[in-house]
Amino acid sequence: MTPVTLSFLQQCRQDNTPFSCLTAYDATFAAQASAAGIDVLLIGDSLGMVLQGHDSTLAVTMDDVVYHTKNVARARPRSLIMADLPFMANATLESTLLNSARLMQAGANMVKIEGEGWLADSIKALVRRGIPVCAHMGLTPQSVNAFGGYKVQGRTSDAASKLIEDARVLETAGAALILLECVPRQVAADVREAVSVPVIGIGAGPEVDGQILVMHDMLGVSQGKRPRFVKNFLATEASIANAFRAYDHAVKTRTFPAKEHCF
Ligand code: KIV
Ligand code: NA
Repeated sequence: MTPVTLSFLQQCRQDNTPFSCLTAYDATFAAQASAAGIDVLLIGDSLGMVLQGHDSTLAVTMDDVVYHTKNVARARPRSLIMADLPFMANATLESTLLNSARLMQAGANMVKIEGEGWLADSIKALVRRGIPVCAHMGLTPQSVNAFGGYKVQGRTSDAASKLIEDARVLETAGAALILLECVPRQVAADVREAVSVPVIGIGAGPEVDGQILVMHDMLGVSQGKRPRFVKNFLATEASIANAFRAYDHAVKTRTFPAKEHCF
């Protein structure tokens, strides 16, 4: 099978055919997800919560993400591999570049960074050096303490306008993808309209180009309260492989997310 590239995702946007994304942290699940048709595998810093048992992503280190990226890459998935820059790995421009290089050398095809318009300089510097970037906007979990909890973002018209403006700024800086977490579906639709790069959503409604979920959430094995935007795809399937396929199919037929998963 031909590997998924950024140009394939760009084509998906042009054709208005949604693509599927899922977190992966090891070779076994990465192989299963890739075989199920999942287009993008994210080594997310959510690993701090679902693998390490922390109550936020702040404890995750570069070594952690590098280790899991290597494990996923060894599966040689057809899927594009994206890896998260963990908390403070982008404390300075130099650390942003060197830590992103580590992720690429571990096997990532691109990096994801949380932030807003201020990320522009980092994104420019990375793109110049051949590292594609996904800008993670909206609810950025590394800022949970600043937000005062995991809250829907972009609810006021001022906040929504700022999000749209910042997405444009980051696209201009060279971001290849925008990821929106926990924003009202209309705001996500407006951001998508404002940019020409593919937009991935989680808790952002159906009017975007790709969907992503944390693997443990969509298998129904995560601890604690299940967020509104999560659906358990294993509940109606006989195996994890089938649950991955069901999720992939639901995303590609736009049956997920449904109304009840949206803000
Ligand atoms: O770390 C992660 O899993 C993520 C997704 C929730 C988008 O950033
Ligand atoms: Na993350």
